[in-house]
Amino acid sequence: MAGNACSAATSGFFSFLLLLLPCLLSSQVHADHASKLNTTQTRILKRIFHTIQLYTSPYEFLNTTAVNPCAWRGVGCYSSYTSDGVVVNELDFSNLGIAFNNSTALSSFFSLICSLDTLWFLNLSRNHLTSIPGAFFSSCTGISTLNLSQNSLSGKIPSQFSNLIYLSYLHLNGNNLSGSIPSTLTIMNYLRDLQLGDNKLSGTIPIMPPSIRALNLSYNSFRGHILSSSFDNSFLEILDLSHSNFSGSVPNSLTCLNFLFFLDLSYNNLSGELPIFW
Ligand SMILES: *[C@@H]1O[C@H](CO)[C@@H](O)[C@H](O)[C@H]1NC(C)=O
Ligand SMILES: *[C@@H]1O[C@H](CO)[C@@H](O)[C@H](O)[C@H]1NC(C)=O
Ligand SMILES: *[C@@H]1O[C@H](CO)[C@@H](O)[C@H](O)[C@H]1NC(C)=O
Ligand SMILES: *[C@@H]1O[C@H](CO)[C@@H](O)[C@H](O)[C@H]1NC(C)=O
Ligand SMILES: *[C@@H]1O[C@H](CO)[C@@H](O)[C@H](O)[C@H]1NC(C)=O
Ligand SMILES: *[C@@H]1O[C@H](CO)[C@@H](O)[C@H](O)[C@H]1NC(C)=O
Ligand SMILES: *[C@@H]1O[C@H](CO)[C@@H](O)[C@H](O)[C@H]1NC(C)=O
Ligand SMILES: *[C@@H]1O[C@H](CO)[C@@H](O)[C@H](O)[C@H]1NC(C)=O
Ligand SMILES: *[C@@H]1O[C@H](CO)[C@@H](O)[C@H](O)[C@H]1NC(C)=O
Ligand SMILES: *[C@@H]1O[C@H](CO)[C@@H](O)[C@H](O)[C@H]1NC(C)=O
Repeated sequence: MAGNACSAATSGFFSFLLLLLPCLLSSQVHADHASKLNTTQTRILKRIFHTIQLYTSPYEFLNTTAVNPCAWRGVGCYSSYTSDGVVVNELDFSNLGIAFNNSTALSSFFSLICSLDTLWFLNLSRNHLTSIPGAFFSSCTGISTLNLSQNSLSGKIPSQFSNLIYLSYLHLNGNNLSGSIPSTLTIMNYLRDLQLGDNKLSGTIPIMPPSIRALNLSYNSFRGHILSSSFDNSFLEILDLSHSNFSGSVPNSLTCLNFLFFLDLSYNNLSGELPIFW
């Protein structure tokens, strides 16, 4: 079996090139010398900040006195060559204690955010969000980095994540997510960094897309085997499967991951011989 244990993967190089493309189309704007933000987006941001102020407890003061919203906390703007003027591309609302007592309010918060159709970075880490509304997956389709780590998300990982075709960094670690990882992730051609550690996930690892570079599934409740097919086509660099109750043997195919420099398989229930990595 050793002869065909490693299948050649070639497609990953091209997706790497594609990942670079969006960076060439814009230039970041510094708030102090920025021309004024697009009026539609200014109106949307005012409503978003108002919502955060309502649902943040203990009350967190968000200074919205600056005329240009690009100067407000957590707002990143850029000057696009493909649309008029300055628009928002980054929102970092991490660690604000945002908690919705009402699912309508939660849905309208996400819907406001997604109406900024130029957004590609969203950091909502370290809040108290309990769910991701379904509409998010049909309206936030430009997102490339999504950080919802350290929230209170529960239930299964929505399979509709695969609708977010540009998603490259998906951080959902530190929640209460359960069930298996949706197999639809396999078709996410830009997915590069998937952090699902510290949840209650089980089942088997689906086939990872060739674009994947970092995968963290530590501190979960997987009971099954580590399948060799999960990583067949990949250029993984970092793989953390520790503290996750995996059983069975360590597949030989892990030695085919030529770019792997970090591997943690500790605190599982693995048996048999360790394949030779060097
Ligand atoms: C939910 O929170 C809002 C804003 O903080 C508050 O006005 C409202 O009374 C709360 N509703 C319930 C049902 O707790
Ligand atoms: C709010 O921002 C304005 C202008 O950016 C600044 O002059 C003011 O001191 C800030 N207020 C507080 C309470 O930080
Ligand atoms: C997102 O927020 C977390 C928590 O505040 C922070 O540690 C992290 O650096 C942020 N990510 C980025 C890319 O700014
Ligand atoms: C939930 O929030 C919405 C929108 O903020 C509000 O209109 C509605 O009255 C709230 N419902 C309850 C039960 O608090
Ligand atoms: C503002 O930006 C949006 C993109 O989010 C664009 O659709 C709209 O035409 C712009 N409006 C103005 C007044 O520049
Ligand atoms: C997401 O937030 C965590 C902190 O909760 C931070 O360690 C991580 O770097 C963040 N990742 C991104 C891509 O923002
Ligand atoms: C997960 O759920 C348990 C109860 O089922 C709760 O005690 C715990 O605080 C939750 N953890 C997070 C991170 O939401
Ligand atoms: C993987 O995730 C766990 C839990 O979120 C974290 O403690 C650990 O440092 C992560 N591993 C790597 C290699 O980043
Ligand atoms: C690990 O799996 C075994 C069954 O194989 C189960 O009895 C045990 O509770 C699991 N441990 C954890 C921490 O999930
Ligand atoms: C480890 O796996 C063996 C079967 O290979 C099983 O009998 C045992 O219960 C497992 N132990 C734990 C702690 O999950």
